Amino acid sequence: MYADGVRIGVIGCGYWGPNHIRNFLALRNSGAKVVMAADRDPGRREHIAKLYPSIRLAEAAESVIGNPDIDAVVVATPVSSHYLLARAALQAGKHVLVEKPFVTDVKQAEELVSLARYQQRVLMVGHTFEYAAAVNRIRDLIEQHELGDVLYVRSLRVNLGLFQPDVSVLWDLAPHDVSILLYILQRQPTAVSAVGSSHFPNGLADVVSVTLDFGPQLMANIIASWLDPRKVREMTIVGTKKMLVYDDVSANEKVRIYDKGVDAPRHYDSFGEFHYSYRYGDIVTPYLEEYEPLREECAHFLECIRTGGLPRSSGEAGIGVVRILTAAEKSLRLGGARVPLDPGEGSLDVGGDAELRNTTHVRDRIDLSSAAVGVVSDGSFADTNGHGDETEYRHRVLVVGTDEHQLSFVTRALEDFRPGFDVATARTPEEASRWIEAFSPEVIILDADLTAATEPDSQRWLETVGSTSVLVLGAEQPGLLPEATMLAKPLRLPSLLSAMRDVAR
Ligand SMILES: NC(=O)c1ccc[n+]([C@@H]2O[C@H](COP(=O)([O-])OP(=O)(O)OC[C@H]3O[C@@H](n4cnc5c(N)ncnc54)[C@H](O)[C@@H]3O)[C@@H](O)[C@H]2O)c1
Repeated sequence: MYADGVRIGVIGCGYWGPNHIRNFLALRNSGAKVVMAADRDPGRREHIAKLYPSIRLAEAAESVIGNPDIDAVVVATPVSSHYLLARAALQAGKHVLVEKPFVTDVKQAEELVSLARYQQRVLMVGHTFEYAAAVNRIRDLIEQHELGDVLYVRSLRVNLGLFQPDVSVLWDLAPHDVSILLYILQRQPTAVSAVGSSHFPNGLADVVSVTLDFGPQLMANIIASWLDPRKVREMTIVGTKKMLVYDDVSANEKVRIYDKGVDAPRHYDSFGEFHYSYRYGDIVTPYLEEYEPLREECAHFLECIRTGGLPRSSGEAGIGVVRILTAAEKSLRLGGARVPLDPGEGSLDVGGDAELRNTTHVRDRIDLSSAAVGVVSDGSFADTNGHGDETEYRHRVLVVGTDEHQLSFVTRALEDFRPGFDVATARTPEEASRWIEAFSPEVIILDADLTAATEPDSQRWLETVGSTSVLVLGAEQPGLLPEATMLAKPLRLPSLLSAMRDVAR
């Protein structure tokens, strides 16, 4: 596959899109082919035409997404269009590299990840710093315990402008800090708080301070601002053994490791004996290979397309970043309140743990949701309705059948009656298998007509649905799926919901 190279289309040729074009063009020996670029703005198309006359240009993003000669799409437009463009590109069967910030809504992020899995396409987020040599060296140093236990991280990302029309500085600059922190620490924070202020009429914060709580002994603080006279990109990491400063603006000393520390006396009997001892040792600047992080990111995207591998800055990892920024946004609105990050939220198997996905029973998942949001107290699914807060857990249901009428009845009924359900449908065992892989449904509702039609394959059906709880609509085939709960037709919604509740017990 891709013997003739990976054919790429870039949507958005403002400030950042042309950097993708330049880097993918430089990767032609690695099989990249930039075929097309789109931008609404004629001035930007003219600019690209002058620089790269061989690239076909279009005004509409749809010209790239609908082009059958394109394998992969880069979305480099402002964030407000990321979700719709990435979704359309995935639906059209393209691999997608979407710029940061991925999206500004956790559910949208999850939906894109599910869709990419279903379509078996690569979905990558442009968290460029995860490809920087300095960041990767820091990750290695932390992993090898060179700094000791990390106690505190401070990240400063400030400059004058560029003010964005559609998002605050939190969503424009802080995604970099958050993605770097998650990548180097390999830990998820348990809570977030943020304060900020807006100094211009659009009301979008132009200065923010975000604190990530990683549990006892480790906190991180991010300051992001468009109101600063100097461009500063600096991260300080304080460990029990050593301290490190990462200065991304520095030309040749991006990382400096300080053999500095402070120790408290273990025993003392009087105030006179008490004193901290400070250590001032060497400062080491490690050698770092020089390359453009975006080049590395583009090369990694190509490699994942070829191998089917999960990108370093995958959509799954992107969900984690969006989750933290959404919590920070909420905290900003609440004047700096501490917003806990619920481990049950965004539980779309973020780690991609296939084994867990296949063996976790619906009961565990329902218990998890009830612990997380304090609902399902009497075991009734109906209880989860009406909890409109942002931590609401959504139950994933897959409806499988060939009878269009039946399928649309069940789907619409579930969606209308219970906004807490995410419903997917499949018409064949193959389609069902792909949804099960991508979507990890908690309950599968199977139309018995379908299983009857494929009865010789009933064993295959059993294997397909695995350990997920199954409801079969139509009681005519009692022996078909022995562990399933059978429901007689004609189907009525209350009996369906009550059977789902029983299955979930
Ligand atoms: N990874 C990084 O380090 C990095 C750096 C800068 C920007 N970015 C991200 O890249 C994205 C673009 O940022 P930018 O600074 O280039 O913005 P920009 O405003 O300079 O450019 C966006 C371009 O997209 C075009 N556009 C918008 N909607 C379109 C549509 N539906 N169809 C076709 N064209 C459309 C606009 O005409 C504009 O030319 C943002 O998400 C930004 O956060 C990432």
